[in-house]
Amino acid sequence: MSFQSFLKLTEEGVLFMGYQFLRLEKEDQIALLEIHRPEKLNALNYETISELFEALEEIRADSSLRALILTGAGDKAFVAGADIQELAKLTPLEGKKLSQRGQKLTREIENFPKPVIAAINGYALGGGLEIALACHIRIASQKAKLALPEVTLGIIPGYGGTQRLPKLIGLGRALEMILSGKMISAEEALQIGLVNQVTSPEELLPKAKELAQSMVKNAPLALQFALEATLRGYEATFEEGLAIESDLFGLVCATEDMKEGTKAFLEKREAKFQGR
Ligand code: COA
Repeated sequence: MSFQSFLKLTEEGVLFMGYQFLRLEKEDQIALLEIHRPEKLNALNYETISELFEALEEIRADSSLRALILTGAGDKAFVAGADIQELAKLTPLEGKKLSQRGQKLTREIENFPKPVIAAINGYALGGGLEIALACHIRIASQKAKLALPEVTLGIIPGYGGTQRLPKLIGLGRALEMILSGKMISAEEALQIGLVNQVTSPEELLPKAKELAQSMVKNAPLALQFALEATLRGYEATFEEGLAIESDLFGLVCATEDMKEGTKAFLEKREAKFQGR
């Protein structure tokens, strides 16, 4: 827990540790993590990134949580980018370190062992879009606007955007976004495969929860291995990807949930998965 994290007094008078720039809710096996710095459109300052690392660890370690929804506070922004006040003062060495730290965060999101859904409620700009790109699935409200506007500030995307965006939407479209910095609408993002679905603002979180629910009813280790096979295979050669898949297929056969899932099917009943 970082030194700036809050000590809070509950109604019962109990002190507990919380986050300053995040809100974390846990319900029905789903973690809802909101980046909460609305007065700065949820821009990612140093401390918000520290807290995101901590929250990811908390959610990873909590076996009662089986999926994560990431969103932004308010109805205006998901995340309006890295904090430009902090960027303005960077030396070259500090710039490299800031980029590496953001890359580490987006890599942790991408490699998270539970499904991560970005619920993009408004502006997803720069580092905000880069965080959304690292999530496994993106859904957007009709109010969302997406861009990598770094070149308009004289910098370049530094949290993995130059690498992930071309993989997701193709080189030509990615370069158009990266070199123009222009914002696209949620509908345009849907057309080019940047988001999986678009909803009304009111429906965004219900839809994200519905999507998460459709995943968390499945076997947790199967989810984890399916994520790992798909994501590691995506970065490997085809042959290596197949080898990763068969290794993990073998491993999943060692789980109690595999026995339960197949047995339940044959007995025509619903499976009860334990995550073992
Ligand atoms: N870093 C730091 N502060 C930011 C920020 C960022 N990335 N994005 C917005 N803010 C702050 C603004 O400075 C403003 O703070 P203030 O009230 O103390 O002046 C507050 O958030 C509200 O933003 P504002 O610009 O007044 O809202 P708007 O509705 O007029 O414009 C945007 C919204 C998103 C178009 C505009 O804020 C913007 O272009 N932000 C920067 C986006 C960007 O380039 N991100 C990539 C960074 S690498």
